[in-house]
Amino acid sequence: MENLIFPPDFLWGVSTSAFQIEGAPREDGRGPSIWDDFGTERAGEATDHYHRYREDVALLAELGVGAYRMSFAWPRIQPEGSGKPNQAGLAFYDRLLDEVCAAGIAPVGTVYHWDTPLALEDAGGWLIRDTAQRFAEYAAILGERFADRVKMWIPLNEPMVTTVYGYAVAEYAPGRTLLLDAIPTAHHQHLAHGLAVQALRAAGAESVGTANHHSPVWPASGSEADQAAADWLDALLNGLFADPVLTGRYPDELTPYLPATAADDLPVIAQPLDFYGVNYYEPQCAAAPGEGNPLPFELRPIEGFPRTSNDSPIVPDALRELLIRFAQRYDLPPVYITENGCSFDGVHDPERIDFLTRHLAALRAAMDAGVDVRGYFVWSLLDNFEWSKGYAPRFGLVHVDYGTQLRTPKDSFAWYRKLVSR
Ligand code: FCB
Repeated sequence: MENLIFPPDFLWGVSTSAFQIEGAPREDGRGPSIWDDFGTERAGEATDHYHRYREDVALLAELGVGAYRMSFAWPRIQPEGSGKPNQAGLAFYDRLLDEVCAAGIAPVGTVYHWDTPLALEDAGGWLIRDTAQRFAEYAAILGERFADRVKMWIPLNEPMVTTVYGYAVAEYAPGRTLLLDAIPTAHHQHLAHGLAVQALRAAGAESVGTANHHSPVWPASGSEADQAAADWLDALLNGLFADPVLTGRYPDELTPYLPATAADDLPVIAQPLDFYGVNYYEPQCAAAPGEGNPLPFELRPIEGFPRTSNDSPIVPDALRELLIRFAQRYDLPPVYITENGCSFDGVHDPERIDFLTRHLAALRAAMDAGVDVRGYFVWSLLDNFEWSKGYAPRFGLVHVDYGTQLRTPKDSFAWYRKLVSR
């Protein structure tokens, strides 16, 4: 920890998302979302944060973080995904945000972290352009109500994951297997982002950015074919999501898969941002596709690194690599690491402390190389519902007993508290 010296005004935080912690899926008029009945394990009551938010904010206060990144549940605010807001839904976030602010913690609001109202998905979800318009209306409702307390805003969490995991390979809701035909969902999410940036600013939001999932992509070998495959996957995972927002262009590789009129929307999509949020977990590796593979790449496992309990390779230096490459490629606004973390079991979690220490050292190295990073958010405050993996992976600084909902701070909680208080 001694080596981890960050600027005095560096923003330390933790992140969560509504669907992964709130529970109370049928309470106070919340409508159904695409995740409620998706997959083998259901979130159900999750960590019951809807009722225990006071206890959770007390944990945040004890942790001593400067910021708390949370998300609003669209189906609580607009149960059918459009129209007049549900007052009971708004009132819950009033109570939560008042509690967070009273603790002296700055809330960072994610407008949407994957829990699309089911009615919107039934109408076409992110495959149709109209959803971007619905999203802008929803973002305006949030901005008008909460911009007095929420200064930093993130319209969409990780649109890449929605496009790839949700619409291309069906690992996540809504469970579509469209492969490259999923790419229009990236464009419609970008349009939603751009319209929401405008709507939030019109409502008084001070600072608006992103939380994009990025991974360096490594070629499986030094061959030209593997390098070409890695470049293509890099364009899909990184360029498709960063370029339109930061440069007002799409990567050439992806243009044939986008809606014909996509270029017309680029001025709206490329609103100047106050910050660029990066979620980092692991690098990816690509090889040239084998015979009969309809894709221009094939994924390869990352070998030779230790792994988390969730089987992710632990590669801290790839965070440094990613940030330096991004700073070379783009004219970046200030960067925040809006998510980084790992799953390990147990309340005594030296592996998580080691993981965070190494990633922060890599982040520090990127800053020393000139990348303007202003803050870092651990995923996550609490153990929670990890999407299609259910409750098995435990990402929290605080352990949750799902039988009793008892919260127990882990060793990593004490470690992070000490780090952020220096
Ligand atoms: C990210 C998601 C977050 C959580 C972590 C582990 O991709 O944004 O909700 O699932 O992974």
